[in-house]
Amino acid sequence: MKKIYKAHILYTKEKNHFEVLENGYLAVDADGCVTGVAADLASLDGEDAEVTDFGNRLLIPAMNDLHVHAPQYRNQGIAMDLELLPWLQNYTFPEEKKYAETAYAEPMYRRFIHDLWRFGTMRSSVFATIHTESTRLLMNLFQEAGMGALVGKVGMNRNCPEGLSESVDDMVQGYEELIHSTLNAPLGSAASLCEKLSTLVTPIITPRFIPSCTSEMLRACGELAAKYQLPVQSHLSENKDEIAWVQELEPESRNYGDAYDRYGLFGQTPTVMAHCVWTDGEELELMKQRGVMVAHCPTSNINLASGIAPIRRFLTEGIPVGLGSDVSGGHDFSIFRMMVYAVQMSKLRYQRDKSSAFLSLAEAFWMATKSGGSFFGRVGSFEPGYEFDALVIDDSDLNHSDYSLLERLERYVYLGDDRQIVHRFCRGKEIAEPRI
Ligand code: GUN
Ligand code: FE
Repeated sequence: MKKIYKAHILYTKEKNHFEVLENGYLAVDADGCVTGVAADLASLDGEDAEVTDFGNRLLIPAMNDLHVHAPQYRNQGIAMDLELLPWLQNYTFPEEKKYAETAYAEPMYRRFIHDLWRFGTMRSSVFATIHTESTRLLMNLFQEAGMGALVGKVGMNRNCPEGLSESVDDMVQGYEELIHSTLNAPLGSAASLCEKLSTLVTPIITPRFIPSCTSEMLRACGELAAKYQLPVQSHLSENKDEIAWVQELEPESRNYGDAYDRYGLFGQTPTVMAHCVWTDGEELELMKQRGVMVAHCPTSNINLASGIAPIRRFLTEGIPVGLGSDVSGGHDFSIFRMMVYAVQMSKLRYQRDKSSAFLSLAEAFWMATKSGGSFFGRVGSFEPGYEFDALVIDDSDLNHSDYSLLERLERYVYLGDDRQIVHRFCRGKEIAEPRI
């Protein structure tokens, strides 16, 4: 049955412009898709629909986290004294090894999903670990919560400690088990990506990064992506020492992006690469050609002293960009806070080079919703046909003066947190608080 929600509705169809409907109506069909937004009930054909009135609250698209590491949950907010490569060796890998045990993983993964829920993130693209069983558990927990996720069992077989390395054959076998059990598709079938995304929780091919994967591992990952038409995620051009190391390890490649491209891991299926802080020149051209998406992770780039990514440049070139928390390189789950950091970092960059403008709030909001959401299908907007992923914000405690609706949203983004989020929807369904 059709449902109608009444509230102050705000969303971004275009990157630099908010759509604002004061006391508007939004209709959702039985499949959980938006059928229309209007100023009056009659134009939504909603006379016999169930109407829920959210009163003076704000109704906005839910958040999408394009890059986050579930098994780094325990390290959130600690270990901020090193740059990427020693940080991985000293803090990250030792923690991820513990996920060989599902008994260790379960309470952590439950809390992880609970935190995504708290901050209004209804879809995320997640790194798990090399361990198939705890990755399966994470997928099941997302399914149980009703929240959308692309979940990657991580490919690693070089430059990593014992216990965090897997043979290529075991990696392929583990992936095929996960694909088989989550997609309900016969193994080897080439169901379209769209059909796959109709399941809320889907595997994503996840070589950790070039230094962690031999050519054989990368080749096998590319083959899995092609065979099952699955998306791909990894890390790209985050840190200068990392980039120099990749050049040493893959001397044939023209740049870091090309090192993925050679193995079919750079846009041959939908691909998201985290960071791209130092992406330029031929690598940038290749991303553009291949339609590779950037997961911009501003807090992580600050904490690991990686640098300031050229987001304005990516947007101007038409390279798709979404936002990622990158917990625990990033310390903060909130994608709202990620919008603030993205705008602030773009202002620091602007101070060095005033030839390109800093980001607006509308652009940051669009990256968090419609642009980031595009990696999950028709997600992140309230245009007809989009899946109804939404948050209801009760900002009465922040709304103490004569603010416009846009100012109210801006204040919520800058000052609000989970306390103001009073309802969360994913694909049309209200999502209850997940059990910890
Ligand atoms: N590069 C390879 N692994 C990681 C990771 O876990 N976090 C970040 N930020 N970068 C990486
Ligand atoms: Fe990361």
